[in-house]
Amino acid sequence: MAKKAPVTSIEWQQTLCQTGQAEALKRQITQSFKQADVLAGEADDDINASSHAIALHACGDLHLHLIKQAVEKQPAEVTISPCCYHLTRQSTYLPCSKLGQKSSLKISKQVLKLAVSKQATSGKRQARLSELGSIMAFGL
Ligand SMILES: C[S@@+](CC[C@H](N)C(=O)[O-])C[C@H]1O[C@@H](n2cnc3c(N)ncnc32)[C@H](O)[C@@H]1O
Repeated sequence: MAKKAPVTSIEWQQTLCQTGQAEALKRQITQSFKQADVLAGEADDDINASSHAIALHACGDLHLHLIKQAVEKQPAEVTISPCCYHLTRQSTYLPCSKLGQKSSLKISKQVLKLAVSKQATSGKRQARLSELGSIMAFGL
């Protein structure tokens, strides 16, 4: 059964917020849009113990920021669909877990990018590199 809880959507681009807000009004959905820079911490206060924090296709540092905020604020529920792992300010991947931090494995941005290279649209070489990247990154 669908939940009827109000939704606050956070987005950096003002025009997307305005378009989303207009659509929500038209469809009579209790969804509000807030223009904010997540990476500057402008949406940190939107996460609290009773919230369900959701990140859909949150690129690189965006989903990492949510993971760190979730650890700190302990929201009731967290749903993350990460993408574009390579879009990060770090030069190499920095694992969040203590176990990962102890690992000697260093994953470059180039290898991280392979994780989101589409097999359906890529050529044989790209598909092979993508598979190789998964093996290197995750030991598959
Ligand atoms: C890959 S899109 C996903 C959009 C939407 N969640 C979806 O699933 O279709 C990533 C979105 O994050 C927004 N974004 C990028 N950097 C941001 C930031 N620092 N703060 C807030 N939003 C940001 C972009 O403008 C873009 O709309």
